[in-house]
Amino acid sequence: MFDYTVVHARQSVGYKHLIKAAQSLRCSNVNTSALRLFQFELAHNRRKRMMKKMSEKQERVVVRGLRDVAAAETKISYVNSNGTLYYLGYDIDDLVERVCYEEVAHLLLYNKLPNAKELDEFRSRLVSEMKLPQRVIKRIRVAPKNCHPMEVLRSEVSHLSEYDPHPNDHSDAANKRRAIELVAKVPTIVATLHRTRTDQQLVAPNQEYGFAENFLYLFKGKTADHQEKEAIDRFMTLHADHGFNASTFAARVTASTNSDIYSAITSAVGTLKGPLHGGACEKVMLMLDDINTEEEVEEYIQGMLDDQKKIMGFGHRVYKAEDPRTKHLRSIAENLCHRTATLNLYKTCMKIENVVHDKKKIFPNVDFYAAVVLNALGVPKEFFTPFFASSRTLGWTTHVIEQYQDAVLLRPSSEYIGEFGRSFVPIERR
Ligand code: COA
Repeated sequence: MFDYTVVHARQSVGYKHLIKAAQSLRCSNVNTSALRLFQFELAHNRRKRMMKKMSEKQERVVVRGLRDVAAAETKISYVNSNGTLYYLGYDIDDLVERVCYEEVAHLLLYNKLPNAKELDEFRSRLVSEMKLPQRVIKRIRVAPKNCHPMEVLRSEVSHLSEYDPHPNDHSDAANKRRAIELVAKVPTIVATLHRTRTDQQLVAPNQEYGFAENFLYLFKGKTADHQEKEAIDRFMTLHADHGFNASTFAARVTASTNSDIYSAITSAVGTLKGPLHGGACEKVMLMLDDINTEEEVEEYIQGMLDDQKKIMGFGHRVYKAEDPRTKHLRSIAENLCHRTATLNLYKTCMKIENVVHDKKKIFPNVDFYAAVVLNALGVPKEFFTPFFASSRTLGWTTHVIEQYQDAVLLRPSSEYIGEFGRSFVPIERR
């Protein structure tokens, strides 16, 4: 009986045959060493099959960090490594300084730059939508002070879904309505948090002001002058959208499951928070606080590089030339630093730019001069990333709507590199 089973199983070397052989051995009265031999062969056979499967799979290419992978098609923005950025076919260089943020919002949401009448109506709608539900304001007031503003923003964006009057309406029109509300309310959440944390009275939006201007007004509690107005408008325009960056991708992944737009924007806020993405802006300011004079720059940067640390606000996944937004932000920063008598800070930044380029051949990204701009506008550094989020909600919502139209689940695969064939041990024998 034993010889027959062994020979039969070994000849066939089939998994099923080995199992059958082992079962019949267990039923018969053969000695335990024969049974162990079979069990060993079983495990060996199973491992061989798994290894074969693995080597077949390994022929697929793993793209670490999804570098250069086009995960979907988009008509919203075009980002090219040579340093160009387009919003719906318009070069960003042609837009900034010539349009206001509301025009960009109209362009992204309706694929059309508005005429004067449309702009007027759209601005008025955006400004009226800046008002927050009372319960959201109450929650912001009681948010623990040690929470980062991005954490509060993430929670309150999520809470906004509770006030949607028609949560089951999944039409394009309903999603556009939600997009406009989110674009309008996210800056108010940010401003309300700052005002309550600093024990200052809340300010109501003013219909006479532009949208970006209103944001700064709600945040600081005083009317922006011409230069501040221009600076915040351009800042928001330059941050409105940027292809398949990490937070936009996160929003699209969430939307691709047919989840709601509030969930998608909540995912995006959480993703933007990270220091390799929008969180870099705050870290830039921490670095600038550490460097007292231009003369310290060389040693500081060398020290960071020697310690294998990244210089915040430098480098980019896509751009191999200068980020097209940098020249605009650099120029806004220079103007603002002149008027706030912080030109030394600006000069230090120029020096950092040169030193980092000499040593690493990389350029400043959007976050480097954005930090200087916001600092000069009187925004505390922990609110830098929330200002970024307030501007990018426009791009996120536009992408979410495009993702709904594409109607495909974003679900990549992974390459398993773990173990196979581990023998299960019951809990009482572990
Ligand atoms: N400081 C120092 N070196 C940097 C750097 C930085 N900020 N950014 C990139 N590099 C170097 C890397 O060390 C690497 O050098 P190596 O080839 O000698 O190893 C090379 O440039 C390529 O960088 P890599 O990390 O592969 O690029 P990435 O596409 O994976 O990362 C960022 C892109 C944005 C995450 C990265 O540049 C970074 O961490 N920057 C700082 C954070 C930041 O400003 N984020 C905001 C982005 S808009």
